[in-house]
Amino acid sequence: CGIVAYHGSEPALPAVLDALARLEYRGYDSTGVALNAGSGPVRVFRSLGRLPELAAKLPAHDVDAHGGIAHTRWATHGEPSESNAHPHRDCTGRIALVHNGTLDNASALRAELVAAGHVIKTEVDSELIGHLIEDEFALLDGPLWADLLAEATASAVRRLSGSWALAITVEGFDGIVLARHRSPLLVGEAPGARMAASDQLGFDASVATVRELADGDIVVLSERLAWFDHTGEAAPLPEKWRITTRRSAATLDGSADFTAKEIGEQAAGARTLVDSLAPSIHNGQLLRELGVPAASRVRLVACGSSAYAAQAIANTLACAGIPAHTVTASEHALAVAEPGTLTMAISQSGETADVLTALEAWRDPVLAITNNAQSTLARGADAVLGLGCGPEIGVAATKSFTAQVIAGAAVALSLAAAHQRLDAGRLGDFERLLRGIPDRLAATSREAAAPAAAVGAELAAEPGWIFVSRGTGVPFALEGALKLKELSYRWTEALPAGELKHGPIALIQPGTPVVLVQAEPVARLAVNAREMAARGARIITVGRGEDAVLPVALPGEQAPWGPVESVVALQHLARETARHLGHDVDRPRNLAKSVTVE
Ligand code: G6P
Repeated sequence: CGIVAYHGSEPALPAVLDALARLEYRGYDSTGVALNAGSGPVRVFRSLGRLPELAAKLPAHDVDAHGGIAHTRWATHGEPSESNAHPHRDCTGRIALVHNGTLDNASALRAELVAAGHVIKTEVDSELIGHLIEDEFALLDGPLWADLLAEATASAVRRLSGSWALAITVEGFDGIVLARHRSPLLVGEAPGARMAASDQLGFDASVATVRELADGDIVVLSERLAWFDHTGEAAPLPEKWRITTRRSAATLDGSADFTAKEIGEQAAGARTLVDSLAPSIHNGQLLRELGVPAASRVRLVACGSSAYAAQAIANTLACAGIPAHTVTASEHALAVAEPGTLTMAISQSGETADVLTALEAWRDPVLAITNNAQSTLARGADAVLGLGCGPEIGVAATKSFTAQVIAGAAVALSLAAAHQRLDAGRLGDFERLLRGIPDRLAATSREAAAPAAAVGAELAAEPGWIFVSRGTGVPFALEGALKLKELSYRWTEALPAGELKHGPIALIQPGTPVVLVQAEPVARLAVNAREMAARGARIITVGRGEDAVLPVALPGEQAPWGPVESVVALQHLARETARHLGHDVDRPRNLAKSVTVE
C-alpha cells in the first residue's frame, strides 16, 4: 500500500497522481483519490486495478481542488474491489481518508459503531476509522481549524489498536490531516506546497528534505505545516533530513521487461559491492567501518527472498565458526534473546512491516542490509550496509537477492576475521571466491538464458515442481522455487534432497520436473537424482558438468555462502516459464513489492 497527500497552490489531482505513480513499485490491487476544493463536497474516485484504470474515471482537468489524498491498496481486510478501495468515507460523506496498516481491534470497533447507529458499507478495517473521526468531528462547533481537527483526530485514533498511517480530508476545511502509529509517513515541503507520502520515493524533485511523523504525531498540511503531539497539543517541527534516493525514470533500455533487465544487472552490481567490501574484510575492518560490534553470535531476520539470502549468510557464519540463526520476521515471537548477539536485518525495501515489528522485540544492536539506505529500517538501525544496486522495479526480487548474499557474506567473513575464527589461508581462499562471484554471475547469465528458455517452454504446463539441493545449496533451491511460484503461479516444493525419501517422493510421477541445484561438491546430489529418475521424474540439473541442463559457472570449490551463481539460472527459468504462460513477469498477481502490513 502507499499513501500520498498534497496541499498547495497547484491543482492537487496531477500532484497526487504523479506521487502515486512513484509509489506504484510497492505493489497494489486497487487505487483511489479524494479531492477537496476547500468548499463544496469532497469528491472521491476509486478503481480496481492500476492507475490507468483510475485515470479513466477521473475528470480530465481538475483545477479547483488544491487539497488531495490518494492511495494504492494491497488487500488485507476484504477482497480487492472498487468498494473496498480507499479513500473510505464516513456516514455523512463529508470525511474521506486513506489508511496504511491494520487494525487489531476492528471487530470490536465495528460492533461498537454499528450499535451506535453507524452504517458500515465495507469489510475494510480502514472504513471504521472514518466513522470514529466522524463522531469526534461532529462534536466540533463552528469553522474547522487545524488545532481543532488535530485534537479531534488524536481522540479518534486513541480508540485504535494496531498500525496506521492516515491522511484525512474533510469538507469545509482547506487542508489535510495526517496521523501515524507504527506505519511510516513522511512530510515534504516545496515552494507553495506541502505533501505527504509513505516513503521518500513518493516525492518529486521539488522536495529536497522531509520530516518524519513519530508514533502518535498528528500533522496538518494547509497554508502552513502544523505539528501536534498525541494529545493534539501543538508541537515543534521535527528535524528535516535530506532525500538522497530518487526514483529515476526507470527505462527498459532494450530489455523485454524490468525483471530481465535486473537479472542482467546482477554481475555489475556484484562487482561494485565486492570491490567496495572485500578490501575491508581483513582484521574485521569492515565491522569498524560500518560501526558494527564484533558480536559473538548473530541473529538474522528477514522475509521472502531476503530470508533465503539470510540463510546463505547464516551458512557463511556457521562455516566460519560464528553461531548464527535465521528468524522469519513474522515468526519472531519464538526467538530466544541471548546476550552478545548482533541482529542482521535483511530487507531490500527496508519497509517490510514484519521486519520492523520483529526488531521492536529485541534489544540487540541492529545492522540493516538494505537497498534503501533511507528506509524506515535503515533510519532505526545502529548500522547500515547499503546494497547500492539501484531501484528494483520487478516485484519479485532478483538483483537485490544476490547483492544481499554478497554483502552479508562479506560481513560474516569480517566477523570471522575479527574473532580469528579462520586461519589466514582459508580467509584468503574465501575472499578470492567472493571476488570471483561477479565474473561467474556474468558467465552464468550468458550460458543459462537460452537453455532456461527451452526448459520453460517445454515444461510450462507442468503444475507442480520440486526443487532440491544439499548443504549450502538449500537456500538457493528455496529461492529458485519461490521465483517460479511468484512468476509462473506453479506449485513448488523445495527441500533438502535428503528429505525427499521421507515423504515428498510420493509426489513424483512420470514427467514431474525436479530441479537439482548443485552445490560444491556437486557429486553429492547424484544419488538423489538417480532415485527420482527411477520414478520417472524429469531431472533439471542446475550446475556444472555434463549433466547440467542449466549451466552454472560454479567455482569448483566450496564457498561458504553456497552456489549463489545458480540463482541467475533459476531466475531465468522462472521468468521464461511465466512468459510462456503469458504472465506479467514484472507485476505478478497478488504480490506487493513492499509489504507494509503485518
Ligand atoms: C515481498 C516481495 C518479495 C520480498 C519480500 C521481502 O513479499 O514480493 O520479493 O522478498 O517482500 O521484502 P524486503 O523488501 O523486506 O526484502
